[in-house]
Amino acid sequence: MTGGHAVWWCHIAVFISYFAVKIEVLTIFPELFRDFSASSLIGKAVERGIISLRVNDIRQFAALPHHNVDDSPYGGGAGMVMKPEPLASAIDDAKSRLTNAHRVLLSPSGKRFSQSKALELSQRPEIILVCGRYEGVDQRVIDLCIDEEISIGDYVLMGGELPAMVLIEASVRLIDTVIGNSDSLTHESFNPSEYGPLLEAPQYTRPPEFRGMKIPEVLLSGNHQKIAAWRREQALLRTKERRPDLCCAGKECDGKKV
Ligand SMILES: C[S@@+](CC[C@H](N)C(=O)[O-])C[C@H]1O[C@@H](n2cnc3c(N)ncnc32)[C@H](O)[C@@H]1O
Repeated sequence: MTGGHAVWWCHIAVFISYFAVKIEVLTIFPELFRDFSASSLIGKAVERGIISLRVNDIRQFAALPHHNVDDSPYGGGAGMVMKPEPLASAIDDAKSRLTNAHRVLLSPSGKRFSQSKALELSQRPEIILVCGRYEGVDQRVIDLCIDEEISIGDYVLMGGELPAMVLIEASVRLIDTVIGNSDSLTHESFNPSEYGPLLEAPQYTRPPEFRGMKIPEVLLSGNHQKIAAWRREQALLRTKERRPDLCCAGKECDGKKV
């Protein structure tokens, strides 16, 4: 595959075998990933060689003279559909480098993304993320070249690029060593408990009083057991109130019904 402005690497390919997780994104808007892959913890993970992130332009695989990647739908209807040939060639090309890659299409018709799916993806060594545009992708490419379709929620975006970034962020932050303090991963929303996944308890930082509002007394007590019990109770109450679908409401927590 040729280089050029549309294909770029976040790290030097020579070192690719060293990376824990190799991700390739296929999109017709590669420029959307430029800042994303160079900033914050994702940028650091790339810099530190924990992940490699390659973004390829699907248009490079489309025929001259216009590099068209879309065509009108058979049977009529609104909008355009992504043509099979360029997309399948782009996936084949990515697969030639990542031979064991799990191929994911971002799609509103996919299975809803979740923290447990993020964990599963974070343990895969190679992932190809395919971003749809227009009214979607020719079904034959999905049947032939895609292992799994994932949706980030019940709404329709203009393209799969933001969903791909969501998957990357949620998964990469779960890779060992990406987040400095791994404790913050075990004490956050959606981690499993005997009540099911829970939301996180409220958090506070200095000052102890802000616009007349004081922080809960227990957090100043220095008693770690009491603080842990308070956080647990708050997490349960909050989950029951905001996301009763997540936790087993009615169970007892430290002697209290939640
Ligand atoms: C405008 S959407 C196509 C929507 C499609 N016509 C439908 O009704 O399901 C274009 C692309 O954006 C991406 N996309 C949009 N919403 C998404 C979501 N909720 N989750 C994942 N990908 C999404 C998909 O890649 C999709 O192919």
